[in-house]
Amino acid sequence: MRIDTRIAERLKKIHPSSTLSVTSKVKQLKSEGYDVISFAAGEPDFDTPDFIKDAAISAIRSGFTKYTQTSGTLELKKLISNKFKKDNFLNYSPDQICVSCGAKHSIFNALLSLLNAKDEVLIPVPYWVSYPEMVNICEGTARFVKTSYKDNFKITAQDLEKHITPGVKALIINSPSNPTGVVYTKDELQDLADICVKKNIFVISDEIYEKLIYDNLKHFSIASLNKDIYNLTITINGLSKSYSMTGWRIGYLGGPQDIVEAICKLQDHSTSNPTSIAQKAAEAALNGGDDFTRNIASEFQKRRDYCISRLKVMKKINYIVPQGAFYVFCDISKTGLDSKSASYELLNEKYLALIPGEGFGKDDYVRISFAASQEQLEKGLDRLESWLNKFG
Ligand SMILES: Cc1ncc(COP(=O)(O)O)c(C=O)c1O
Repeated sequence: MRIDTRIAERLKKIHPSSTLSVTSKVKQLKSEGYDVISFAAGEPDFDTPDFIKDAAISAIRSGFTKYTQTSGTLELKKLISNKFKKDNFLNYSPDQICVSCGAKHSIFNALLSLLNAKDEVLIPVPYWVSYPEMVNICEGTARFVKTSYKDNFKITAQDLEKHITPGVKALIINSPSNPTGVVYTKDELQDLADICVKKNIFVISDEIYEKLIYDNLKHFSIASLNKDIYNLTITINGLSKSYSMTGWRIGYLGGPQDIVEAICKLQDHSTSNPTSIAQKAAEAALNGGDDFTRNIASEFQKRRDYCISRLKVMKKINYIVPQGAFYVFCDISKTGLDSKSASYELLNEKYLALIPGEGFGKDDYVRISFAASQEQLEKGLDRLESWLNKFG
């Protein structure tokens, strides 16, 4: 067999994750004894709370270790249904919910269930690194929609309308956003929803950072705006960020019943249920209320404020103040370097790890994650400042 036919065509266009390649380089340098500060993390640096861990341990001890219903236990789906109602004004009955192995899995399931080959998906730039790759794996076509700094990198109704052609099947929106941290207002979502309804475009609404939101802003779910957009939207969420449960792999989606049924069929023949033990942990998390999440959100807000107070005085850098998530997306164009060269230099000269913006569709930006301790933030920002000084 010729080498170039060994790997399926659909995987040939897929790029390795830029986030993961930086984190593996950081691990390597640390293992060699270097004092590396990492601003690369895509996960909260807090431990999963004990009450959640205890629920998992008792699930193991009581033998809750077998297959469950593919889409998750009824108990868990009822809790998610209540959460959607309480937090998002969304009525999804348990059979309109599918629990999967992380929100990433939920997004992948949604795309694979919606897309035929060559169907186009609109992705506002900058975007979370995995969206275009997932669309590619599903043999769809990612169509990028540029946004501008002056619009806070949010897609406007005009931008959206301009990009809708007969091949477009869906739009992905992500609020609060990774990598920019911007949050869409209700009015902005309403404008986007009107166009999606008018043009019959599905929306995949990734709301994984919903609870990490600052300055008393409010998160809105686009599907809650009216019945028409509800019928076109798949709402994605999960416990990874809000309960510091990234390793447990519990994400979920709610959507129109026919689509969720198709997603469950797909999951029946791929992963089956998410881990039974992690589902019990998720039940405990949702039963436990929002105290933990509120505490980490308030800690992240303090760290965000600290980062901004430091970045403000660094002349060669520009940024948008994040309103949610735990990233600051920084314009480094004044250094004259592209994002990979800047990240490479920072890591090799200052032992500071950042994620190059290239993977998010912006090669003149880098992403700083403030999911790091105050001490690490101080040290890392000192290193960034001293590196920037060489550019005058
Ligand atoms: C925007 C966005 N969506 C989804 C995910 C995936 O979350 P999960 O860990 O639940 O798969 C991430 C993780 O970094 C993310 O940043």
